[in-house]
Amino acid sequence: MSLHSQVVAIEWRQQTLHLLDQRILPHQHQLVECHSAADAADAIRSMVVRGAPAIGITAAYGFALDALAGRDLDIAYQVLAESRPTAVNLFWALERMAALTNANGQQLLAEARRIHEEDIQANLTMGQWGSELLGDQTTVYTHCNTGALATGGHGTALGVIRSAWADGKIRHVYAGETRPWLQGARLTAWELMQDGIPVSLVCDGAAAQLFRQGDTAWVIVGADRITANGDVANKIGTYSLAVLARHHGMKFMVVAPSTTFDLSLPSGADIPIEQRPMTEVTRLQGIQIAPDDCQAINPSFDVTPAGLIDAIVTERGVIHQPSVATVAALLATH
Ligand code: MRU
Repeated sequence: MSLHSQVVAIEWRQQTLHLLDQRILPHQHQLVECHSAADAADAIRSMVVRGAPAIGITAAYGFALDALAGRDLDIAYQVLAESRPTAVNLFWALERMAALTNANGQQLLAEARRIHEEDIQANLTMGQWGSELLGDQTTVYTHCNTGALATGGHGTALGVIRSAWADGKIRHVYAGETRPWLQGARLTAWELMQDGIPVSLVCDGAAAQLFRQGDTAWVIVGADRITANGDVANKIGTYSLAVLARHHGMKFMVVAPSTTFDLSLPSGADIPIEQRPMTEVTRLQGIQIAPDDCQAINPSFDVTPAGLIDAIVTERGVIHQPSVATVAALLATH
């Protein structure tokens, strides 16, 4: 069975960054062209491209675009850093690019390509590690979109599911629809169906009832930032899934490359949580569903405490029972 996903979200061609517009998938397939760091920042902010690793890769290419055009790289850095606050991969990628102080545009483009390629390789490795944790004929639940669309390719949590499917271990995947942007309904269901992996979409609020039935063994999710103690920021709704998984005796797996760790932060309480416009909650794809002028809150991420997580799968290996000690021990390797 092929591991290769046909979905390409980020492509560099003809000196231009091409992004598949994820706001209108799965029914429309359009590319957005970026010619500058400012274009790339707009694409990140407006959700053309999303998912922590994909945001980092896009920022790296955006930085390279301004280097190739001879623009001020301090401004490029600033513009990109202000696009979205929670995914640390964005800041990691910018730091890595900015560290090459004497590099020319072509060398910075080569670095962006390396960041892109390394992410794909990390995903394939995590896919293997994660698959090994699953038993035969496993039914899993996933949240948001963590696939080829959210990364350089293959995916983090969805990469594990894809690899486990290739290993013959997956019986069924439940995908939470993921209000308000519906990444689960629009993107994850689409990616899994492209690969012929059996998936059922679930309203976010149906997870508890589903878990009580007892046939779902693992919740598998990605991450936007993991702190020194193993707390995990991920798409809003992840924390409730972790509580539900523990209550129902299920396992909870986080899959993220080492670029998602932020060891400068002691715990999840220190992670900046993006607050997005309330109209994303009061409207559904542009159509007002709540009463006019209705107030709403729209935190885009939540924090799952390390104590609710059974395993964090990285490309360097698996952290079981995450804590300050187990996170430090794994990241000290390599
Ligand atoms: O708001 P989004 O769509 O960028 O949020 C994405 C997530 O929360 C993903 O789970 C996370 O970035 C991991 S993606 C491999």
